[in-house]
Amino acid sequence: MGIKLDNIFDAFSKNFIFRNKNILQSNYTPETILHRDEQIKQVASILRPALRLEKPSNLFLYGLTGTGKTLVVQYVRNQLLERAEKQKLNLKIEYINCKLKKVGDTEYRILAELLRKFGEDIPFTGLPTGQLYQKFTELIENKTQLFIIILDEIDQAVRRIGDGFLYTLTRINSELKNSQISLIGISNDTKFIDQLDPRIKSSLSEEELIFPPYNALQLKDVLASRSKTAFKEGVIGEGVINKCAAYAALSHGDARRALDLLRVSGELAERRGAKEVTEKDLDEAKEKIEKDRILDLIKTQPKQFHFVLYSILLLEENKKNKIFTGDIYRTYEKLCKNMVIECLTQRRVGDIIAEFDMVGIVNAKVISKGRGGRTREIKLAIPETLIPKVKEILEQSLNI
Ligand SMILES: Nc1ncnc2c1ncn2[C@@H]1O[C@H](COP(=O)(O)OP(=O)(O)O)[C@@H](O)[C@H]1O
Ligand SMILES: [Mg+2]
Repeated sequence: MGIKLDNIFDAFSKNFIFRNKNILQSNYTPETILHRDEQIKQVASILRPALRLEKPSNLFLYGLTGTGKTLVVQYVRNQLLERAEKQKLNLKIEYINCKLKKVGDTEYRILAELLRKFGEDIPFTGLPTGQLYQKFTELIENKTQLFIIILDEIDQAVRRIGDGFLYTLTRINSELKNSQISLIGISNDTKFIDQLDPRIKSSLSEEELIFPPYNALQLKDVLASRSKTAFKEGVIGEGVINKCAAYAALSHGDARRALDLLRVSGELAERRGAKEVTEKDLDEAKEKIEKDRILDLIKTQPKQFHFVLYSILLLEENKKNKIFTGDIYRTYEKLCKNMVIECLTQRRVGDIIAEFDMVGIVNAKVISKGRGGRTREIKLAIPETLIPKVKEILEQSLNI
């Protein structure tokens, strides 16, 4: 006989907090989009020629995460398609998220995904890419007059597979007779466009649009509007919403983060059986989200990153003095020898540590050593309470 869970379930079924929690999920499409009128209008006017089946300029959208890029583009897409249907236009607009591994991690997969949008059944591997491109141009020629391709999180695909596929896509028009394609690239990485081959860059960003971060007041409006239908009446006070908006404004105005915070706060209140979300729930939610973020981040790093991080952890544990890059490298080297794995160069390990610094796993401080020499002093930036869990993840990954 297991334990009786009725009490636990009953307590949960008395839901005092949420009316509809889905409204706070990030994949939920809100009814109103606040503080993005300007961007909506600009995207709409850039794409407007599509309603006369004239090729719109390629468009490149960029801005930090959670600034409403995906939301705005999808909104304009839907409106355009509605009009196109009324006018019986042969216009096709498809959205592809390159961040998804099974979509964006090879050129083959991106093409296969595009072909599937025409209802083609493409095997997951096996055909030559040349053949896929040929099929693709045929389909566009035969099935549509204008094809707008939205490549969301395009930086993720380019990072993994290079920018060759973009080059090809931007050149396809020269092979088409009856039809044309336009590209919309979206990136969370604001420096991405400058890393592209200049020819691709100028073609992709015929038009460019930046999405600035939301400020605290704007976030407050977004949160207030979504929480009206997400929470039961009287559950969430203005104080909590204001504080939540302020937190998210500090982490570069990310609306996704703001919504997550509010949702997790509600869940914590619900778990306590409370009838109200408090600022304390919010603070706990903030801590929980930050911990989850760090753990997820660590889990998804490649093996060599795990070796480097494990070396830092070992050094921290036996720390007598400050830790410098050279110390980490020596520990790492020993570890590689013991585990009989390939050892990266000191320079490469330095790069990995710099990446850890960038995502907030460590803090690195540059120290000059005189005569132009420099090193970095490294401190672990993972909260103390998380370290055992992190160690467990690394040991499992590295079979230690
Ligand atoms: N102006 C807004 N009004 C309502 N919800 C918004 C607004 N901007 C962003 N959101 C919500 O915030 C989350 C992140 O927005 P998203 O468009 O995915 O950002 P990005 O693509 O720039 O990372 C989504 O859940 C979205 O619905
Ligand atoms: Mg997005």
